[in-house]
Amino acid sequence: MDKKTETAFNKQVNAELYSAYLYLSMSAWFASIGLKGIAAWERIQAQEERDHAMLFYDYVISAGGKITATAIKAPKTEWGSPKEAFEYQLAHEKGVTANINNLIEIAQSAKDHASVTRLQWFITEQVEEEQNVRDILDQVALVADSPSYLYMLDKELGTRTYTPSTGQ
Ligand code: FEO
Repeated sequence: MDKKTETAFNKQVNAELYSAYLYLSMSAWFASIGLKGIAAWERIQAQEERDHAMLFYDYVISAGGKITATAIKAPKTEWGSPKEAFEYQLAHEKGVTANINNLIEIAQSAKDHASVTRLQWFITEQVEEEQNVRDILDQVALVADSPSYLYMLDKELGTRTYTPSTGQ
């Protein structure tokens, strides 16, 4: 891979690790307000983001590039409400989608078809991620004024199980 693509992919490794750290921070915040099910959901989301980072990491190496580790910025730690937290998450995921689209453009201009192909899975994954967060946001908005419904939603989201992202 050329230098520009290598730099962009390295940036994405950092961005995915930041996403993992952000969702871990959200998990801690949800746990701190007693929503242990949503905290567990976010913790699994953090694991998925780490998987994404490793998929980019492994790809850079397999394509003959070099990984250069850089500092991961500190995430936000407090939100005003569950609705605000999921709005924040949706905005973040939209930013990730924009990053992936940008990566595709960089790989395309380098005529790097292998990287474009590798990125296709992430495009599909982003559609799914945005939809999942949008669905939860809709539910959280509906139950915002009802602690008993929020309790049930918390229970439901707490049943999520972790499946490693293999990129296939
Ligand atoms: Fe790795 Fe949530 O995008």
